Amino acid sequence: MLLFPGFANSFHVVATPRGALRVAPVTMADVLVIQNKGGGHGEIGFHLAQHLVSRGDAVTILHEGDGPNPKEAHRAYGELPSDVKVIWGGDLSEAAACLAKLEGASFSAVVDNWSKSPEAIAPYATAAKAWGVSNYAYVSSAGMYTPDKGDYGAVGEECAVKSSGQRQAEEKIAEMGLPFSYFRPPQYIYGPAQGKSYLAFFFDRITRGRPVPVPNGGDQLVTMTHAADNAAMVAAAVGNEAAVGEAFNCATPSLVTYDDLVRLCAGAAGKECEIAHYDPAGFDKPDGFKYKFPFRDTPFYVSADKASRLLGFSPAHSIADDISWYYSEQYVAKGGLDKELDFAEDDVVLGRVPA
Ligand SMILES: *[C@@H]1O[C@H](CO)[C@@H](O)[C@H](O)[C@H]1NC(C)=O
Repeated sequence: MLLFPGFANSFHVVATPRGALRVAPVTMADVLVIQNKGGGHGEIGFHLAQHLVSRGDAVTILHEGDGPNPKEAHRAYGELPSDVKVIWGGDLSEAAACLAKLEGASFSAVVDNWSKSPEAIAPYATAAKAWGVSNYAYVSSAGMYTPDKGDYGAVGEECAVKSSGQRQAEEKIAEMGLPFSYFRPPQYIYGPAQGKSYLAFFFDRITRGRPVPVPNGGDQLVTMTHAADNAAMVAAAVGNEAAVGEAFNCATPSLVTYDDLVRLCAGAAGKECEIAHYDPAGFDKPDGFKYKFPFRDTPFYVSADKASRLLGFSPAHSIADDISWYYSEQYVAKGGLDKELDFAEDDVVLGRVPA
């Protein structure tokens, strides 16, 4: 049998169920995940660890904060397979102390979902360089895009960006010559073991028989991405040369309108819904009034074409399929039906006088 030079060690023999032997290529990576304390939207590190371990990679999570603390997202780390090593790093900006907690281990790839500035990323990037990593995947944010005013098309990776701390951290690892990839998720992420619930706004109103205020036409498109899909996309870059030197929007390719989201929520709750469109600039705002609609007033959604083209990414989830789960687990089970709610702000937005 001919093995490609240099790949001799990357084949191993697997017993098939019938006991026959076949030779399978393996791309075992030893991945360090540097994870922010999150708990809000999207526990990407949690799903990433599950994903990488299930395909045979070794995973160490260097987690911000002292834990596991009582936050749901943190407790979830206890459910990870026992071979995932979770190191609670405390303050990750004390990089020397945190790197020392790795006890001299070396890694073949880094996924960084923590650094927020060039100063913060530099010591981890320096360590990664010394390890000779094949990939430094940095999960930043789609919040850095600055599309032209009035341009409501899908935002691609070539869109102009503002020089946020995360953008400067992206530039830093490029300057340092690391095999970088940038992953830019928009904030609308859902999934188990997370605190933030974007759709509670809709369920609160639907389950109380209240009209659901939606700004403008309600036809604004958005991506609702399951955190496991964000993680699958990042995992597809680990050990993958095609990912190197590229930025990727990290979202599902499937789009949904605000009105359709409200209808999905109503369907899951088994209720009728009344959608009330309002003009976000067209009502008298009392001083300091800021209405808490969970999405932007104008459309903001990204294109995920590049990740499907270069990384072969396709999502395993969709909000339409997951909405019943969302309603029962993220809303009802968390006491959504028992919350005391005050809809005075809705009355202001809708120009109605409270009853
Ligand atoms: C990490 O992931 C979250 C989504 O869970 C994202 O919003 C955040 O900006 C990411 N990056 C950093 C550097 O914290």
